[in-house]
Amino acid sequence: MIEIQEILFDARAIDRKVNELADRISRDYEGKDVVLICVLKGAITFTADLMRRLTMPVELDFTRAASYGNSTTALGDVSITKDIDTDIKDRHVLLVDGIVDCGKTLDCLRRRYTARGPASLKTVVLLDKRSRRTVDVPIEYIGYEIPDRFVVGYGMDFSEKHRNLPYIAEIKSS
Ligand code: IMP
Ligand code: MG
Repeated sequence: MIEIQEILFDARAIDRKVNELADRISRDYEGKDVVLICVLKGAITFTADLMRRLTMPVELDFTRAASYGNSTTALGDVSITKDIDTDIKDRHVLLVDGIVDCGKTLDCLRRRYTARGPASLKTVVLLDKRSRRTVDVPIEYIGYEIPDRFVVGYGMDFSEKHRNLPYIAEIKSS
């Protein structure tokens, strides 16, 4: 059985942080058009909130990666199971993910999309489990750094559950 152990960030805290990130990103990309790539499924809530606060013109696309591991850790290789449709050559690209853990997923996505010759490619994540990093992947915009805990909510799941929670919580399994 899975239970919520502790709420780490409530809806208001998330809201404030998303605003802060959106302000920074909007300033950095002033005068530019951007392609947002939302990393399914976990980043949908974050992307939807973030994009509404960006002041430059944005296009939206989706990608998806799968890693071989168990439900809480990505152990092995990452493969891309859904590609974007947009031609990103010479475009400014912003990859949006909910959480970075060991870093393999974002590293794989960055390599794939950097190879297509974008004008620039940066990454934004809401949550960063920095202590778990095994791949040194550059992340330009980070919402919160969190300890090595398994979290759900605001798009993030445990076995496909709890994505709908409006807050981010740690779960305990028993
Ligand atoms: P990485 O490749 O180890 O960085 O794994 C990143 C992916 O693992 C994320 O995009 C999530 O899908 C998943 N993930 C890692 N930690 C958590 C967590 O605490 N809750 C939910 N999903 C997580
Ligand atoms: Mg998951």
